[in-house]
Parts: sequence; C-alpha cells; structure tokens
Amino acid sequence: MIIGVPKEIKIGETRVSMTPSLCRRCVTLGARVLVQKAAGITAGYTDAEYRAAGATIMGEPARIWRAADLILKVKEPLPSEYPLLRDEQAIFTYLHLAAGAELAKLLLKKRILGIAYETVEGADGSFPLLKPMSQIAGRLSIQVGAYFLQSQHGGSGMLLGGIPGTMPGHVVVVGAGNSGAHAVQMAVGMGARVTVLDLDTRKLEALDMEYRGRVVTLMSNPANLENEVGDADLLIGAVLIPAAKAPTVVTRKMISRMRPGSVIVDIAIDQGGCIEAIRPTSHEKPVYTDQGVIHYAVPNMPALVGRTSTMGLTQATEPYVAMLVRKGIDDALGEHQGLARGVNTENGKIIYPAVAKALGFS
Ligand SMILES: NC(=O)c1ccc[n+]([C@@H]2O[C@H](COP(=O)([O-])OP(=O)(O)OC[C@H]3O[C@@H](n4cnc5c(N)ncnc54)[C@H](O)[C@@H]3O)[C@@H](O)[C@H]2O)c1
Repeated sequence: MIIGVPKEIKIGETRVSMTPSLCRRCVTLGARVLVQKAAGITAGYTDAEYRAAGATIMGEPARIWRAADLILKVKEPLPSEYPLLRDEQAIFTYLHLAAGAELAKLLLKKRILGIAYETVEGADGSFPLLKPMSQIAGRLSIQVGAYFLQSQHGGSGMLLGGIPGTMPGHVVVVGAGNSGAHAVQMAVGMGARVTVLDLDTRKLEALDMEYRGRVVTLMSNPANLENEVGDADLLIGAVLIPAAKAPTVVTRKMISRMRPGSVIVDIAIDQGGCIEAIRPTSHEKPVYTDQGVIHYAVPNMPALVGRTSTMGLTQATEPYVAMLVRKGIDDALGEHQGLARGVNTENGKIIYPAVAKALGFS
C-alpha cells in the first residue's frame, strides 16, 4: 500500500497526519510512505526524521496524490485540492461533510472512499478520533476566550479569575462532552465562576461529582440558557449531535443580553456551529463583533498547538492506520466495525445516515 501524507493547507494549519514514529510503523508493516516536503515542520518534525523512518520525501503534492492508494490527512480537502483527488481513491481524515455539501458532491462524483476520523467509533459508541482534538479545543477555548476578553483585544476587560474582593468572570459552557468538560476544567483552574449545561444528565452528574459544587450544572433548556447566556462573560459552544449539523442552541436574542465586549467561542463551528447566525472565522482573522459581542469560530483550533495536537491525533489514529496497512483497506473495513463506521462515502453514495440526512440525501 502507498500512503500519501500531503502538507496541510488550511489557513493557519500546523498539524500533520503522520509523525516519524507512525511512519516507521507503517513502513515496518510493509507500506510505502510518501511525505510532502516540510509537511511536519510546523509540528516540529523535520524531513530528515521522516527520511530516517523510511519515508520518501516529495516536493510536488500532485505526485503524492496521484501515487497514493490512501491519502492520510488532518483536515478535509480544500477546493484547490479537489482536482488532485483521484477517482476511487481512499482518504482518511476529518471530513465534516454535514457542513460541507460541496466536498460531499465531489467525493460522490469521484467515487471516493471517504473515511472520516470523526465518525470512527469505539466499542462503547464513543468517537476516539474526535476525542483528543475536542479535548484540545476545549482547553484552548478558555485560553483564547481569556485573551479576547482583554481590553486591548476589544474585550470587556474582565479577568476570568478576578482578584479577592472582585467578582470573577462567568464562563458558561453549553455541552458537557469531551470539549465541554475540558473547557470546564480550564475555567475552574483559572478561578472563574463556571456554569455548564447539557441535555445528558449523566454528563452533568459526573461533573457535579468531580467538582463538588464548585461548578453549577444545569439542564440545557431555553429558560436556563436564556438566564445563563445573558450573564456570561465567556460563552463556550461545545454541543454535538454525531455527524449531524450542530443544533442552534443559543439564539441572537439571548446574545443581545450579553454585556458588550463579552466573548463567544463556538467550538462546534466545524459542524456548522451551535450559536445562531455564527459564521466561521480563520486563524488569520479569528474574531468578529456582532451585537457588541466578540465571536470566535475557528474550525481548526487545535492548529494553534500543532505539536501537542499532532501527538494527540496520531496516537489515536495509529491503531487504525496500522490496521489499514496490515490487513489492506477492504479487509480492515470488513473486519473492524468501529473503523467501518468511519466510512462516510463509498462508490458514489453517502453511507453514514446522519450525514445523508444533514445533506438532504435521505
Ligand atoms: N473548532 C475546533 O477546532 C474543534 C476541534 C475539535 C472538536 N470540535 C467540535 O466540537 C464539537 C463538540 O465535540 P465533543 O467531542 O465535545 O462532543 P461530545 O459528543 O463529547 O459532546 C457533545 C455534548 O453536547 C451535548 N448536547 C447535544 N445537544 C445539546 C443541547 N441542545 N444542549 C446542550 N448540550 C447538548 C451532548 O449531550 C454531549 O454531551 C464537535 O462539533 C466537534 O467536531 C471542534
């Protein structure tokens, strides 16, 4: 099997889909690995390290895309990469097709086997390849939010932890899953007042037990959301309905009651966002202001910490990549149900029901 590792081209992206260590494992298992020149440099991995691990370094991305049986990436292919995808090629990456109709059409037209990291399933129904990036995005959301709350960055000038004798900032986290729980952990660590809302009482119970009253847990319903959002200095959107477009949970009316200079970080933007009318931003221009509130909606937040993110991502993908190499793509998908759940497109069809529904195919 030939595996292609192109350099990521999304704005501000710093991750790479394969470390030299994973490369060595694939080569040992019999794969040929083609790595684009400087693909790993922003994550701290040099071409020399990949070469020493058995990779062939190539300067021209088109040659990699043409030769590879399996393209291993981090982010979804972007329009400039569309012509590079070969008919019936396999690609293993984050696809986020529910919010990407144009890409979905292309994958169908070219009959691409699209295996999405985000829908690969663990034995317990969890999403092991989404988890590490969600944890990172959750932790970063508080760091980023605190930055934009600073006066010089247009924020309200609220220090999340306050000081003795002043009110700490109020962080409201909507969604208590992987990203939400890690946002809560960082917000507590910074000394903020923290409220978290979810529909799943088990998630709320776990946080209640863990923080023993230090965090307020609330059922996510319009009345609770209206009260909490209006009082938030920093609002984190962290909801997910697997593979579906994110539901709009926070309305513009709720946001209109937030204090000027407050900040919203919508982590769920990669699935369309859970804040009404939010639009994606990029690392080049990460925020815009609407109704006096700063909106941050970068779909690839983990790129802010390329080294940690690459390590976190590849330690999760490694068993699946190794399985694809060892058994071959068809057998690996045939034998491993969890990996097969990652298949979003195959033979010109959308395979994953929630993606098909989100795109109006069912
Ligand atoms: N922007 C980025 O860079 C980035 C990085 C990683 C992950 N993400 C995205 O973050 C989102 C969250 O991922 P996750 O791994 O934390 O998901 P998760 O499944 O672990 O958690 C999502 C939570 O949302 C809850 N939820 C669903 N509907 C809700 C509602 N109406 N109100 C309140 N809670 C609700 C669920 O019960 C669940 O607990 C996903 O869209 C994921 O793709 C974005």
